[in-house]
Amino acid sequence: MELKGLRDDVYRRPLATALDRLGIGPGWTCVDVGAGGGDVSVALAEVVGRTGRVYAVDSDPAARDEVAEAAAAHAQVLAVTQAGEDLRLPEQVDLAFCRFLLLHVLDPAAVLARMATVTRPGGWVVAQEPVTSAGRVDGHPLSMPSARHPDVGALLPALVRDAGLDVVDAWAEAPAGAGPGPVAEYLAALTGVDPGDDAIVLPPLVTVVARTREPAAGGPGPARRLGAPSH
Ligand SMILES: C[S@@+](CC[C@H](N)C(=O)[O-])C[C@H]1O[C@@H](n2cnc3c(N)ncnc32)[C@H](O)[C@@H]1O
Repeated sequence: MELKGLRDDVYRRPLATALDRLGIGPGWTCVDVGAGGGDVSVALAEVVGRTGRVYAVDSDPAARDEVAEAAAAHAQVLAVTQAGEDLRLPEQVDLAFCRFLLLHVLDPAAVLARMATVTRPGGWVVAQEPVTSAGRVDGHPLSMPSARHPDVGALLPALVRDAGLDVVDAWAEAPAGAGPGPVAEYLAALTGVDPGDDAIVLPPLVTVVARTREPAAGGPGPARRLGAPSH
């Protein structure tokens, strides 16, 4: 899947792979939790089209203005200021998505539980989170002291399972490079330090693709009156 709004995003490949896996298309409703500047929200909006809807949720009110600017041409993007822990939407969605969010929140399990709740039965939850310390520059591990859970990606499949979701697929993927190029530029923007000619492996992003459970087929059926004949 080509994601036009994400041309400069070095992590766009795992996102495209995940979206291909879902079969997302026109008319889908989605929520992008921790949307930031709205890059992923806009990419989703292009896929779901005018008949779809994308809620871009972020706890930082400044993100709303950024999203509004990024999504000016996409009326189907609705920016909402809300913490992921309090996630509430006017409708259930087909897809709840987050990327580079859970490493920053107080309680990743609580946010995943809210994402599961706002997703319709049989809908999709996709989370993409890093294992920061598995990244390398010139062979040395990366760290992100500002993040609450910099390695949350390493726990993600279990966190998603424990939120009551069925994990359909999970994998890790890391952009890598040496010398000038998009990977070095990304790292420089993140750290404020130019890595020069050093070899770089950015933090692997763990993607988990999961589904919410459908009500059990056949269910309890119509109530049988006590004492009534069973034949
Ligand atoms: C690193 S940015 C990720 C942006 C975007 N998801 C992406 O992949 O490009 C993290 C975003 O999560 C937001 N955030 C942090 N804690 C949050 C929370 N508890 N609920 C919702 N958003 C939160 C921040 O304000 C920030 O915009």
